[in-house]
Amino acid sequence: MAQGVKVEDLSVIFGSRKQREAAIEMLDDYKPDEIREKTGATVAVKRINLEIEENELFVIVGLSGSGKSSLIRTLNLLNRPATGDVKVGGRSLMDMTKKELRYFRRNDVAMVFQHFGLLSHRTVLGNVEYPLEVQGIEDKERRQRSMEAIELVGLDGWEHHMPNQLSGGMRQRVGLARALTNDPELLLMDEPYSALDPLIRREMQNELLKLEDTMDRTIVFITHDMNEAFRMGDRIALMKDAEIVQLGKPEEFFANPANQYVKDFIADVDKTRILKVRNIMSKLKSVAKLGDDRKETLDFLKENEMDFIYVTDEKRIFLGFLKIEDLQKSKAQKIDNLVHKDETKIYRNLYLQDAWEKLNESTYNLPVVDGKGRLRGVLDYDIVVDALAK
Ligand SMILES: Nc1ncnc2c1ncn2[C@@H]1O[C@H](COP(=O)(O)OP(=O)(O)OP(=O)(O)O)[C@@H](O)[C@H]1O
Ligand SMILES: [Mg+2]
Repeated sequence: MAQGVKVEDLSVIFGSRKQREAAIEMLDDYKPDEIREKTGATVAVKRINLEIEENELFVIVGLSGSGKSSLIRTLNLLNRPATGDVKVGGRSLMDMTKKELRYFRRNDVAMVFQHFGLLSHRTVLGNVEYPLEVQGIEDKERRQRSMEAIELVGLDGWEHHMPNQLSGGMRQRVGLARALTNDPELLLMDEPYSALDPLIRREMQNELLKLEDTMDRTIVFITHDMNEAFRMGDRIALMKDAEIVQLGKPEEFFANPANQYVKDFIADVDKTRILKVRNIMSKLKSVAKLGDDRKETLDFLKENEMDFIYVTDEKRIFLGFLKIEDLQKSKAQKIDNLVHKDETKIYRNLYLQDAWEKLNESTYNLPVVDGKGRLRGVLDYDIVVDALAK
């Protein structure tokens, strides 16, 4: 199970203890520049609140120095908050004992850095194995898990090469494979692709989306490139001067930019090439599962004034839909034989442009699935029209 993250009243302040204490006093009434002038402390993150859902690909974007790294580094407590707390899967990081924190860092969370951070004297395999080695995992299992991760990022065949024999894109893959070996529930990526040239970068973005599609994982991804942010993010937080200027789905930035700064930031973004189905799909409030009771499902639809409901199996794989009139007519105990098998569904990583045709032909809103065929949401005709028109 992937885990959600809750950031509460979080501040990160750099400076001596005395400077930091003085800065906390001033936090609510002064801007970071003023605090630096008066105290010498740097307020890198200022009283931020945000919630990241499990399985979400959450992007933090902003110019250099806006506080992105300072913020993401609190999510595994590489930075200690000056105020507030971070909760992962409901557990407070600040409340963890040293031992619990060590366990959390080794098992539940992993980080990929901008400059790869590879060990130059070790092979690809040696690098990927490293975290498992530190954990004392025995040879055979270590090798097996590392090779799985190497295959996952498309580097099989390269495991005995040294980092300096690899291109930048390949080194970044090694960094990702290393982060994946302990199957973290929370993956933190701090500008992982910034050092790559545009074509490789695009390829890596698509690969990460594909990877994320088939694995349950919460990902926090940092970039200073708005195009990358919109291409990747389910939701995006735009940071400026230690605070979040706007937080929402990509589409919401276009529809309702919070201020002139946001407008300028998104001015050069071509949204038809960036908005994906996943960015504007709506969440499903309710879904029926194979094996559900017919009568109960019928009552549920009536209560909620719905005339149909989507059906999945127990692994959330999309199967089709149920119509209220069929539920009414039937005497069956279970819903299973009443499901209309439906082939029209839409893949969530399609660009909106490409999904449009299918949606236009359909008389219904379309169910949205991920790479495994799991039901993730629904694409609403009106919302798409609205998004493309603006
Ligand atoms: N270890 C540190 N000690 C002192 N100041 C720091 C430290 N780390 C960051 N800062 C300061 O905190 C502020 C925010 O920096 P941060 O690295 O979080 O920004 P960023 O958004 O990640 O920038 P970039 O895009 O350049 O990586 C900056 O003013 C920076 O100088
Ligand atoms: Mg940074």
